[in-house]
Amino acid sequence: MVKIDEITREIWILNTFPEWGTWLNEEIEWTEVKEGTFAMWWLGCTGIWIKTPEHTNILCDLWCGTGKRTHGSGKMKKGHQMMRMSGCQNLQPNLRAQPFVIDPFAMKGIDALVVTHIHSDHLDPYTAAAVLQNSSNARFIGPQEVVNTWMKWGVPEDRTVVVKPGDRVPIKDVNIIALEAFDRTALITVNDPEVSLKGKLPKDMDEIAVNYLFETSGGNIYHAGDSHYSNYFAKHGNEHQIDVCLGSYGENPRGITDKLTSADILRMAEALKAKVVIPVHYDIWTNFQADPREIVELWKMKKHRLQYKFKPYIWQVGGKFVYPDNKDDLEFHYDRGFDDVFSKGPDLPFPSFL
Ligand SMILES: [Fe+2]
Repeated sequence: MVKIDEITREIWILNTFPEWGTWLNEEIEWTEVKEGTFAMWWLGCTGIWIKTPEHTNILCDLWCGTGKRTHGSGKMKKGHQMMRMSGCQNLQPNLRAQPFVIDPFAMKGIDALVVTHIHSDHLDPYTAAAVLQNSSNARFIGPQEVVNTWMKWGVPEDRTVVVKPGDRVPIKDVNIIALEAFDRTALITVNDPEVSLKGKLPKDMDEIAVNYLFETSGGNIYHAGDSHYSNYFAKHGNEHQIDVCLGSYGENPRGITDKLTSADILRMAEALKAKVVIPVHYDIWTNFQADPREIVELWKMKKHRLQYKFKPYIWQVGGKFVYPDNKDDLEFHYDRGFDDVFSKGPDLPFPSFL
């Protein structure tokens, strides 16, 4: 029996959060991945879980944090990368727009937590703690600054692997290849507000951000992190077989360039010679949301003339994608249920009720 005078804010939070409970944890654990395929789930932002037929579980960029939760002073922290980029001063209204679809502390059997870059919507202490506490074999793989951050938080050095472009890290049957990243926002991310970047050479991108290719027995996934568009995508496409690529798509506010546009997403897929391109990241920030159908419409317009060999795929957070099974689907929908209707007789006032 509910007694509302015993309900506190803490009880409400524990009873309703994370919003999906362990639903997705269970689904992933129970999924048997067929030979010649791989399965992956979208966890929000650029976070994905990859599972192979050999039961290898790779977590990439899972983010368990939030954006703004209060208006505060209404002003941005001095030296924020968007302030450096554009000279803005007002607080960025970037609120988290997606629910938590996975319970990080119920995750088990993670073989590697792989992170693309230093930004806090890709690298957070909650994910690191959950993986460290419950997945005793997990390696923590990232560029130098990501690994430095993990170690500051308490991840033992011998669990970490520092990667730079060109490095290969085998994790059971999966070959993880680090490649160049093109995240110019990361290059102007310097937390010290007293540091000025004017007239100085930027940091070495390879130490703060990498892209990844995950080679599996069922196909290869290219994760572009928060890369902006680069000519180098064509080089990566020349040198690697890429089946599915993920790129950070979003509607950039005026005066800001941070996310790939719909045209960039198509150019990236063409350059990488991918078979499927999946936009991500546009889901998560309230102020960078974009409509992924724009990518599909543009693709329809251009695919014959430019002889595109790839298809776009519009995913949903918490959804599963299996390659190659879903490569021609174009769009995801959650399980609609009710597959057992009339498996027993209904209980209605009369048969023609509805
Ligand atoms: Fe991001």
